[in-house]
Amino acid sequence: MNKQRRGDGSLRHLITLEDLTRAELDALLEHAQRYVCASGARPPMNRALDGMTIGNLFTEPSTRTRVSFELAARRLGAEVINLEVQLSSRAKGETMLDTIHTLESLHFDGFVIRDSEPGVVAHVAANVAAHVSVFSAGEAHVSHPTQGLLDALTVRQHKGARFEALCIAIVGDIRHSRVARSAYEAFTALGVGELRLVAPPGLMPEAGLFPAGRRYATPEQGLMGADVVMMLRIQKERMAQAEIPDGDQYFARYGLSAARLRLARPDAIVMHPQPMNRGVEIDSAVADGPQSVIRDQVRNGVAVRMAVLETVLRPRPVRA
Ligand code: CP
Repeated sequence: MNKQRRGDGSLRHLITLEDLTRAELDALLEHAQRYVCASGARPPMNRALDGMTIGNLFTEPSTRTRVSFELAARRLGAEVINLEVQLSSRAKGETMLDTIHTLESLHFDGFVIRDSEPGVVAHVAANVAAHVSVFSAGEAHVSHPTQGLLDALTVRQHKGARFEALCIAIVGDIRHSRVARSAYEAFTALGVGELRLVAPPGLMPEAGLFPAGRRYATPEQGLMGADVVMMLRIQKERMAQAEIPDGDQYFARYGLSAARLRLARPDAIVMHPQPMNRGVEIDSAVADGPQSVIRDQVRNGVAVRMAVLETVLRPRPVRA
């Protein structure tokens, strides 16, 4: 049985992008685009989720994902509860499912979950009541579906919807990155022309993963002529101490400097999911420079999460 769809094929949860079609991705991106607004403008709001309650349960740190899921739910009229997991009865040994079932008794309609253990989000989704939906806010190194969507939306805004015409280079710690996995799923489903993976051997994904990606050992090879340069953070929290590269050496060989960026197309955009290690994977002059769309990625996070929440939660039959 599909872990995130209803019997009619519609999305009941959003756990992964791996089975989304191009038509579904296009529909979500177009939906999200309607919620994008310029910096400083009053953001769009409606009552689409009026009366609903969403719980944010994050067992790993987050700034962007947690805040933007909360803003998205509130801007659609939902009530939002941020459960401080360390201060909850989870700290006394309560299981995740007992916590979830407790919150269901308090009339929660959806859960946004970030967890460091693979499979927890799907496990919760398989065990919630029929009227409840679950949204992944990042699952271990496995997936970060709303990040993949906001990355695709950002590329679409700057480069157009013809992904076939684009060369996208993903650079850095791809092996431990859930962002890279979901971006890969989104970009390949959208028909990207060329997808490059640029990493040192220890940070390249295992053979067989990312099958459509062309592998490059150096940015000098992998950035040549790219339209999009997506830099990744070194995921120290998923590495043994001995595996963590030295920051200065890493920047010298793989960091995105202004000189390296000149290998890409002159109109290439620079992306980074953040948080950034400035001076390790990216130079501040590039991160804050004219080709950077990193702040657009953050802005698009709210719009994408509004589209996802509305798409998943609204088709449900009204309960008595
Ligand atoms: N990009 C991202 O997931 O950021 P946070 O960890 O701050 O949510």
